[in-house]
Amino acid sequence: MQDKTSIHGAWTSRWIFILAATGSAVGLGNIWKFPYITGENGGGAFVLVYLCCILLVGVPIMMAEVLVGRRGRQSPINAMKDVALEAGRSRYWSLVGWIGVLAGFMIFSFYSVVAGWVLYYIAGMGVGDFIAIGSDDANGVFNDLLANPQTLIIWHSIFVMMVMLVIVGGVKKGLENAVKFLMPALFVLLLVMLAYSSQTEGFAAGWDFLFHYDPSELTAESVLVALGHSFFTLSLGMGAIMAYGSYMPKKTSIGSAVIWIAIMDTLVALIAGLVIFPIVFTNGMDPGKGPGLMFVTLPVAFGQMPGGQIFGFVFFLLVGVAAWTSAISLMEPATAWLVEKFNWHRVPACIVLGLIVWGLGVAALGSFNFISDVKLAGFSIFDFLDFVTANIMLPLGGLCIAIFVGWIITRKMAANELAISSPLLFNAWYIALRFIAPVGVLVIFIFSLVEKFK
Ligand code: PHE
Ligand code: NA
Repeated sequence: MQDKTSIHGAWTSRWIFILAATGSAVGLGNIWKFPYITGENGGGAFVLVYLCCILLVGVPIMMAEVLVGRRGRQSPINAMKDVALEAGRSRYWSLVGWIGVLAGFMIFSFYSVVAGWVLYYIAGMGVGDFIAIGSDDANGVFNDLLANPQTLIIWHSIFVMMVMLVIVGGVKKGLENAVKFLMPALFVLLLVMLAYSSQTEGFAAGWDFLFHYDPSELTAESVLVALGHSFFTLSLGMGAIMAYGSYMPKKTSIGSAVIWIAIMDTLVALIAGLVIFPIVFTNGMDPGKGPGLMFVTLPVAFGQMPGGQIFGFVFFLLVGVAAWTSAISLMEPATAWLVEKFNWHRVPACIVLGLIVWGLGVAALGSFNFISDVKLAGFSIFDFLDFVTANIMLPLGGLCIAIFVGWIITRKMAANELAISSPLLFNAWYIALRFIAPVGVLVIFIFSLVEKFK
């Protein structure tokens, strides 16, 4: 089992792996979700807890995922099975991979709908629809969009096709080429936006909001939100990172690569906050506006500002790129599995999967209009997909991976694959993986359910 490579190919270099995994991690979670949950949870203290969660739970579990992927050199389902068998354990650990594939479909379907909104806003900003728009009109634009299934389906379909286009190209020609161009573009766009927001009057207020630590603002609820988000934002618990790990070159350090990915994901989230909040404060708006923060508040702000249409266009382009590289990683594990299992070419595999997620996405977007009265466990279909994946499936998947690597396979296997030379660092990781991460995940898992159903 020593120097196996994946039948799907391998990343050209360590940096390509880091870029690809960062592409997966950096997405709507950073630019859309992180700012609005920070706004809802009072700012600085929440940010601090979130950073602790990334370090103590996210990083150790991400290392475990990459480790299993690279050891197994296959899609998450088969990698879990083979690594379990290699350790003399049950083949049914592949079930963890199955939960992941299912979670991937479900996340993809609502993710693609939100990405479709982003595409719509790119187009709208591009043609100047938001010039001097007021807050009522901006609300109107967003609500009209949600009420119109045809428009939603068009943009959702375009996004699904964009993702399929990259996936059919395979690891080297598709994924690698995409991230090589899109990730640098994303960083440039982000810095352009930061330069812009740093010139606004509200910059100091925005900075203060993100980094001023006041523990009295912290509630038990926000701690749980922070922990849950650290999972979603690092793409953990569903096999995306495991699949990317299976294409990783053998002789590269997993630990340092993962640290880089976590740092970049965190930086992008913080910079996104430093872009959004100054704009919000400059315009005297409410930071705690919720999910509409990006789609309603920001267009108003851009509408009022000199050059706002151009920067608005750049901003939504940035969000679109980020969503694209994340969605690719949502589809890759299942594609790899179909290719391994049935010996299919990538094209049919991709078409089958594309149709499945497209259909689920249509159901998700329908929950804003033609099937708005359909409820699952009290949620609209869209909210159900979001809730069940983020609060149940990803934590469960992550918990299983932590237990698998921390307790089921041997310490020696893990140590061989990680090849950390410092015993101190290895032990720190091992303790975090075996104890801190599982307890942390169990806590969010149980508390979020209790919160929801009490
Ligand atoms: N990490 C992505 C984001 O922050 C979302 C994601 C979750 C992507 C799980 C892949 C897998 O937007
Ligand atoms: Na993220």
